[in-house]
Amino acid sequence: MEDLLKQIQDYKTEIGTYNAAGEKAAEEFRIKWLGTKGLVKNLMGEMKNVPNEKKKEFGQILNEFKQFAEAKYEELKQSTVDSQQSSNIDLTLPGDAVPLGTRHPISLMTNRIISIFQRLGFAVAEGPEIEDDWHNFTALNLPEHHPARDMQDTFYVQQNPDWLLRTHTSNIQIREMEKGKLPVRIICPGRVYRNETVSARSHCFFHQVEGMYIDENVSFADLKQTLYFFAKEMYGQDVKIRFRPSYFPFTEPSAEMDISCMLCKGAGCNVCKKTGWLEILGSGMVHPNVLSNCGIDPNKYTGFAFGMGIERPALLKYGINDIRLFSENDVRFLKQFTSAV
Ligand code: DAH
Repeated sequence: MEDLLKQIQDYKTEIGTYNAAGEKAAEEFRIKWLGTKGLVKNLMGEMKNVPNEKKKEFGQILNEFKQFAEAKYEELKQSTVDSQQSSNIDLTLPGDAVPLGTRHPISLMTNRIISIFQRLGFAVAEGPEIEDDWHNFTALNLPEHHPARDMQDTFYVQQNPDWLLRTHTSNIQIREMEKGKLPVRIICPGRVYRNETVSARSHCFFHQVEGMYIDENVSFADLKQTLYFFAKEMYGQDVKIRFRPSYFPFTEPSAEMDISCMLCKGAGCNVCKKTGWLEILGSGMVHPNVLSNCGIDPNKYTGFAFGMGIERPALLKYGINDIRLFSENDVRFLKQFTSAV
């Protein structure tokens, strides 16, 4: 009897630690323990050798052991079913589509402008959005207290009164000239900030593209031809162009460029305020003071520069009536733009 109890205990340990998986392992388990020649049956056969007064007690222990082995067998069978189910996943079913994004209309417009100037040999340059007073104003011939600073309402950084959010991309001109490598022929896209009330027509941040060419003998004729080429590529070969004298502290002489209104073809409409013309950029010959501020000899080098906003042409091109839509990130709005052409 002692030996039998010890034997049952050992069997229990063996079964408890049995952890092979799969259909075959379950079947092997059944044959070894629960089959007609299995070890449980074998133990039952030992009953005849147990003394009568112990038969009841031993019977109970044996029954318990049998149930223990059966439970283990059920467990093995179940794990086989589970693993079969997970391998029943149909790998040929189509997956969930990942929605593709589209380019932002401002990026489309910017890239298009850049690619036109790249064909003329202009290289892309960028600069910081948090700028110091020197690069945004002073070096551009806008010293402190200069009234022209009022043309651009500025956001200053609280921690340091010398820092501000750039009001235009002209800061990049200064940074590129300061590098001291001539000639400079750059096209500079970027975001700019002005302290203005947000409305359908204006925003406190928007985008500009700046251009600049500095070399020996660069003339106003080069400026005009470059911008003519740009306007025709951008707005069509039959677009009309005019230059109006203007004022910017960083250029002398300065000019603003208008194109014939693409909506009314010059006849006059609400968009061009009945003038037939749309203002698209500011430009001019880089002021000698600006060249000197960047360590460039104005007697040897000359150059032209220009700057244009992106939002307004994009509004016109896509027939959008509210500038705020560009920064609200509404996917229903954004997914409508696939190409700038
Ligand atoms: N920085 C001017 C603005 O934000 C635009 C501009 C005008 C840039 C003339 C230039 C330029 O480079 O020559 O209104």
